[in-house]
Amino acid sequence: MPMKLPFFKPKKEIPLQEELTSVPEHVAIIMDGNGRWAKKRGLPRIAGHKEGMDVVKKTVETAVKYNVKILTLFAFSTENWKRPKSEVEYLLKLPKEFLHIYLPDLMKNNVRIETIGDFDSLPGFTKEAVQYAKEKTKNNDGLLLNFALNYGSRSEILSAIKLMMKDLDNDKFSLEQLDENLLSEYLYTHGLTDPDLLIRTSGEQRLSNFLLWQLAYTEFWFTDVLWPDFSEEIFVEALMDYQRRSRRYGGI
Ligand code: FPP
Repeated sequence: MPMKLPFFKPKKEIPLQEELTSVPEHVAIIMDGNGRWAKKRGLPRIAGHKEGMDVVKKTVETAVKYNVKILTLFAFSTENWKRPKSEVEYLLKLPKEFLHIYLPDLMKNNVRIETIGDFDSLPGFTKEAVQYAKEKTKNNDGLLLNFALNYGSRSEILSAIKLMMKDLDNDKFSLEQLDENLLSEYLYTHGLTDPDLLIRTSGEQRLSNFLLWQLAYTEFWFTDVLWPDFSEEIFVEALMDYQRRSRRYGGI
């Protein structure tokens, strides 16, 4: 009698319209539209954030699949503290929930977790969960999943300037040595390449204080799709569009 095999749903393959030959090394995403997604369904805003969390997991898998090296996700901005207390608390609990559910998968996918932003000012439950994941994944050398948590670009630049002025005062370098590379060393993103591609969902076309210095030569890609509806197909559309762009960095 033949053995009954378990039923596996085959993973739907995305047909590529053209070959993906030039994948951006670093993709940054402003994940916008969770609230509107929930409102459209008559659900509380936090239901949109919850759905958005699951889309983060799928997006990480897509990034791994197409060999993106760094994925920076804007998960909580320094401005997000202005939201109602209950929403702020929910948003800050999401990293813990995400890691509780998905850390084993991230390990299997060889993903390393890092953050940018004012980490120390986050609540203890967020810091502990994220710190644990950073520690656990620190030797993984696949995708770098970089969460922007309590991140604001202007305050990042300002604190870089303050630190630099201190070091200048202490003769750690001279004014002549101060150049763009040195300034970059003082940013949260030190050691990372600048994003090649920035994606923003939900139809908004602004930067919202995200990576202002680092996005100087980045290609921007906007979609009306709300973050909870973001999918592999849409991610691939952005990657395809990116590879058709001609990046000249001010040259010809
Ligand atoms: C913007 O949508 C989204 C946020 C402020 C939060 C983004 C967070 C997630 C997608 C989940 C994060 C997951 C992890 C793992 C940390 P919005 O609420 O401003 O939407 P709206 O503009 O439609 O109101």
